[in-house]
Amino acid sequence: MKVVLSLGGSILGDERKIKEYAAVIENLSKEHKLFVVTGGGKLARELIAKARALGANETLCDMIGIEVTRINAMLLASAIKTAPKVIPKDFGEVESLSKNYNVVVMGGTFPGHTTDATAALLAEYVSADLFLNATSVDGVYSADPKVSRDAVKIEKMTPSKLVEVVAKAEMVAGANVVMDLLAAKIIERSKIKTIVFKGDPENIAKIMRGEKIGTIIEAP
Ligand code: UTP
Repeated sequence: MKVVLSLGGSILGDERKIKEYAAVIENLSKEHKLFVVTGGGKLARELIAKARALGANETLCDMIGIEVTRINAMLLASAIKTAPKVIPKDFGEVESLSKNYNVVVMGGTFPGHTTDATAALLAEYVSADLFLNATSVDGVYSADPKVSRDAVKIEKMTPSKLVEVVAKAEMVAGANVVMDLLAAKIIERSKIKTIVFKGDPENIAKIMRGEKIGTIIEAP
C-alpha cells in the first residue's frame, strides 16, 4: 500500500519519541511505500512570532516555518536507517527518491498553508491509498471540544462533511483547528481515504493492522 503520514511537529517530541516513530515507520516500510511529512511544532510557532515582531511579512514567516519543518524532517530521517538523508523540496524530488527508497521524509513546500495540506497534496500526487493524519487530538469533533460541551467525536464522515466542520471551526478566531481547510479540500477532491487520529507511534501500527482508531474520512 502507498501511505502518506502527516506527523504534526507538536507530537514529534524528544529523541526517545522520534526513535519510536522511526521504528514504527521503518517496520511498516518493509511492506508499504511510506511518505512522511513532518510539521514544525512549537519551535516553528516561536520563530514565526519572533519574525513577525521583527517586521517580517506573512510569506517570510511561512518560509521560516517551512525551514523548521525541514529540520524536523532531517531529525526523523536521521533516526530512520533506510530513509534518504536529503530532504526533498518538492513532490517531483519525492517521487524520484521513492523509486529507490521505501520511505521518504519531507517537510513543508511553499508558503500559504501548513504541512497537513502539503501531505494531502502529496497523497494526491503519488496516488496514495491512505492518508494518515497524526495529530494531538483523537479525531475530528463536531465542534471545538474546549469551547462547546456538546462537541462529539465523529467516528466516520465524508470529505464534504470534513470541509464543513473545518470551515466552521476556522471562522472562530484562535480556534485550534484539527486540519487546515486546504488539506480538507484536497481530500474532498481526491477522495483519498483519510484517518485523523491521536498520533502516538503505536496507533500508527494499530491502524495499519486494521484497528479502527480516530476519525475515518471516506467518500460515499
Ligand atoms: P506546521 O504544519 O507545523 O503548522 O507548519 P501548524 O499548524 O503549526 O501544525 P502543528 O501544530 O505542528 O501540527 C508550520 C508553519 O510553517 C509554514 C506555515 O506558516 C505553518 O504554520 N508552512 C508549512 C508553510 O508555509 N508551507 C508548508 O508547506 C508548510
